[in-house]
Amino acid sequence: MDRLAQAIADARARYVSLNPRSQAADREAERSLPGGNTRSVLFFEPFPLTMVAGEGAEVTDLDGHTYVDFVGEFSAGLFGHSNETIKTAVHEALDTGVAMGGQTRFERELGSLLCERFPSIEKIRFCNSGTEANLMALAAALAMTGRDKVLVFGGAYHGGVLKFPAGGSPLNVPYDFVLGEYNDVEGTAELIRGAADELAAVLVEPLLGAGGNIPGSREFLDMLRRETREAGALLIFDEVKTSRLGPAGLQGLWGIEPDLTSLGKYIGGGMPTGAFGGCAEIMERFNPKKEGSWGHAGTFNNNVCSMAAGCAAMGRVYTPERAAEFFESSEAFRISLNEMFEEREVPMRCNGMGSIFAIQFSPRPIRKTADITVENQSLRPLLHMELLLAGVSVCGRGDMFVSLPMTETHLSKARLALESFADRYKSLILDIVGQAPQS
Ligand SMILES: Cc1ncc(COP(=O)(O)O)c(C=O)c1O
Repeated sequence: MDRLAQAIADARARYVSLNPRSQAADREAERSLPGGNTRSVLFFEPFPLTMVAGEGAEVTDLDGHTYVDFVGEFSAGLFGHSNETIKTAVHEALDTGVAMGGQTRFERELGSLLCERFPSIEKIRFCNSGTEANLMALAAALAMTGRDKVLVFGGAYHGGVLKFPAGGSPLNVPYDFVLGEYNDVEGTAELIRGAADELAAVLVEPLLGAGGNIPGSREFLDMLRRETREAGALLIFDEVKTSRLGPAGLQGLWGIEPDLTSLGKYIGGGMPTGAFGGCAEIMERFNPKKEGSWGHAGTFNNNVCSMAAGCAAMGRVYTPERAAEFFESSEAFRISLNEMFEEREVPMRCNGMGSIFAIQFSPRPIRKTADITVENQSLRPLLHMELLLAGVSVCGRGDMFVSLPMTETHLSKARLALESFADRYKSLILDIVGQAPQS
């Protein structure tokens, strides 16, 4: 067995011996759920933990261990597990009735908060998830333009039926996708021009999340805006995750107005929701008061608990001012981790922006998906196990989401765990991914 395989096996053996109850629960779950799982992204070897409680920025598992929660429900957990303002709003909503089959004040208020917040969103509609938001944005783009092709980027994840890993996905919706390379300015401009009058939309995350948390360059995003306009195609920003980066998401930071935006995750204060919105000309096609409008139904589109939680979360907790401060403080934390890796001359880096980043093993900056090598990825299971063993829960692929209730104590715990990982495995990491750059 090579050194890495041995190190992973050792860490997993420690994990197994510490988590007998989670292991038994996983076996029990296998009886009804394939592999014990109903959310692929939560699976990891040898078995995932069963969580039983969450409080503030911490979660506790079935065997009684407590972790600082950097999984952060893949960004939906921005508010942590026990925000009082959100809890109260949900309790009050439950008391008013949850399935009234009518319009309520909640979707009106949340809709108005989001339209005020994101200048490109003149009108908005709610749905049940980020996946659905993207599906609806794409459906609207195809109907609006009368065209069929959709440009997406390798490595992107826009939902369970809209994912574009290397090797493709057999489960995608059967749209006519054209695949571009993220951050390739020239190549993508050519693809857009080449597809021209067949291209309905470009669907893009302004920071390629699941594909490695690679920030889109300014030049790349500006080019997308310019070229889509030129081609008569719609630009759809998937800001399901990134809209929490600053007061108006990355579109606000870069001053770029997409035609449509999809939202989800944290905007429901931790409850299930999604939304798509954009310029009035497109969104007004959904206006049921107009002849020939497009129907868009959905039993839970305006679910009372989700809408009430969203109103509290976006109106009273994550105000634009709080979002601006949080972006600054979490970006400072991310940069401090990178400085720590540099001081140690270990080729590790936190790729991303603000409160959304991923630990990557690479001697070079990661700007394209091709920069994320097989060697880089081979170290992820070891990092993940060792951090869990140190009481820090991160995503299996190395993503970390900073949440609002995290204190200096939580951040220090993560910093220390990463420091000791870097010290303990420095020579192994160097052997696998190469030398850190000389500064
Ligand atoms: C960028 C992006 N878009 C869309 C989605 C899908 O959202 P949901 O899981 O709510 O369907 C995700 C989920 O991780 C995402 O990261």
